[in-house]
Amino acid sequence: MSGGFKEKRILLGVTGGIAAYKAIEVASRLKKAGALVDVVLTKGAENFVTPLTFGEVLGRKVYTNLWNEESEPIHIRLAENADMAIVAPATANFIAKARLGIADDLLTTTLLAIRTPIMIAPAMNTNMYENPITQKNIEELKKRGAYIMPPAEGVLACGAIGAGRLPEPVDIVNFAENILSQNLSLKGKKIIVTAAGTIAPIDPVRFIGNHSTGKMGFEIAKEAAKRGADVVLVAGVTHLKNPDGVKTIRVNTTEEMRAAVLAEYDDADAVIKSAAVADYRLAEVATEKIKKQGDELTLKLVRNPDILKELGEKRKNQILVGFAAETNNLVEYANKKLREKNLDFIVANNVKEEGAGFGTDTNIAKLIFKDGREIDAPIMQKSELAKIILDEVEKLL
Ligand SMILES: Cc1cc2nc3c(=O)[nH]c(=O)nc-3n(C[C@H](O)[C@H](O)[C@H](O)COP(=O)(O)O)c2cc1C
Repeated sequence: MSGGFKEKRILLGVTGGIAAYKAIEVASRLKKAGALVDVVLTKGAENFVTPLTFGEVLGRKVYTNLWNEESEPIHIRLAENADMAIVAPATANFIAKARLGIADDLLTTTLLAIRTPIMIAPAMNTNMYENPITQKNIEELKKRGAYIMPPAEGVLACGAIGAGRLPEPVDIVNFAENILSQNLSLKGKKIIVTAAGTIAPIDPVRFIGNHSTGKMGFEIAKEAAKRGADVVLVAGVTHLKNPDGVKTIRVNTTEEMRAAVLAEYDDADAVIKSAAVADYRLAEVATEKIKKQGDELTLKLVRNPDILKELGEKRKNQILVGFAAETNNLVEYANKKLREKNLDFIVANNVKEEGAGFGTDTNIAKLIFKDGREIDAPIMQKSELAKIILDEVEKLL
């Protein structure tokens, strides 16, 4: 049991609840399981337990103060070092602050800077726990990727009977271990994903665009983040919200997308280009709105830079994956693109096919590799196709 903590560094946040004493056993169990534990106590927690106790149990310094005498910002160091954070017990107050992003003490400030999984074990009086505002705060934190360990039910320290008890330390440690052992197979890898369509502005109010909604690329970015990757999502025009835990850069034009991707390219491990970029732009974008005049309007278009081709030419060790959205001669065009752009593989889909292409939640695709291998992906959710694509990227990395 608990082998998953070997050589892991765990940030254990303890807040001001009556169950804070149980955090001492949590710290002790984590240490026995092989973890290096950094404890951060809130001011509230210090009313229940002392830094001295944790210090004695762990044989390490315990942290309480954001404003310490050290020369470097301690919250950044703690955040960068942590493979995972556990807050147990988590008060209603802490949960509310974490939901809002308030950073007014060492624990809340450190957690804002953390990129690794955060587990929260709420513990409080049943009425406080069931209060809709607390429930809303918990839901929001869950949506943002925090792992919430549901409290146990029973007789609480305050005499109330119901949900709100901090689970037993052994269960807290097991819950944390399950999180740590999840598939973080892309941890330490930087993955750039492009998504959605870019536009070609005509004048200040009009543009030429395409039907891409960005769903496929956003699913890939989300899945890569789940696997622990450092994800940069360069998104064209889409109504989709920025995925949690992903650095999202919004762009409009192909030239902007090119600049954003190249700025991130040098230290990237893989680039997955699912964006539908505008191949052409207006030779001249009108500075004022073009007025109606005559029966015809001729727009002169010029070629946009070919981002994928440029990435293929500049690549060092990066894995390069492209997408081919076609309406005919799918395999032939996809193979041509695969070679011309120097890709590792290409995800080809016929956007005219029912259940594939723009705006749908599903896709039907064929993955074609440079060694000639092919994988057929029958109709499936884009989130599922994202997993298949990332499994293949992982193999190549
Ligand atoms: C005796 C006592 C017990 C408390 N127990 C809890 C508790 O179990 N859960 C909780 O959310 N708040 C509890 N509180 C309230 C918190 O201590 C209070 O909201 C405090 O501001 C929390 O600060 P912190 O979140 O920064 O640690 C308790 C307060 C007292 C006086």
